[in-house]
Amino acid sequence: MTKRVAILISGGGSNMVALVKSMTGDHPARCVLVVSNDPAAGGLDRAQALGVATAAVDHKPFGRDRAGFEGALQKVLADARPDIICLAGFMRILTPEFTAQWAGRMLNIHPSLLPKYKGLHTHARALEAGDREHGCTVHEVTAELDGGPILGQARLTIGPTDTAETLAARLLPLEHALYPAVLRRYAVGDRSLITLPAKETAPDFPLQD
Ligand code: GAR
Repeated sequence: MTKRVAILISGGGSNMVALVKSMTGDHPARCVLVVSNDPAAGGLDRAQALGVATAAVDHKPFGRDRAGFEGALQKVLADARPDIICLAGFMRILTPEFTAQWAGRMLNIHPSLLPKYKGLHTHARALEAGDREHGCTVHEVTAELDGGPILGQARLTIGPTDTAETLAARLLPLEHALYPAVLRRYAVGDRSLITLPAKETAPDFPLQD
């Protein structure tokens, strides 16, 4: 049966677009909802333009009441009955109570080669450490921030002129290839590790608008 996917975003949503565009034809999943914690997130317009239902659950009125925010988020998600949740540039830390509700059904993409550089400022930290390579990781979400089982990684070589900005820009196309490749397998219960670049996992859909 076709799996229902909800995607959580906070910003521009380029990973969300790559995921939505991948879910066509014989793909085992379809996107049923895109949710943002920021009502002004550009990704909401992009999702609507792709014909996907959207919702915003603004975290700001909840202040430090994480449980309150997550309760509202959970309600919106429950109405959409997703089988899988994809965090795609979703910049709120989720509580163990929330992640437990979606255990084994929630993915995240993180812009580093985990377990390196959990949290923020990953590109700058890779440069500061003098790393030769950088990358992104798709993993299952558990209670530990950026700590769940790794399902896929894509790597790039850091050049002598790279900055945090160029690394972010160079990494995004790899994210757009990796996340759909992992989701496609995950939707049929395949959790085997994907490593990019690899010809057999190259996406067969347009990555850019
Ligand atoms: C992506 O680079 C994603 O890996 C990162 O935010 C960006 C979102 O871009 N996620 C995190 O940092 C999560 N901790 P997008 O909105 O264009 O997909």
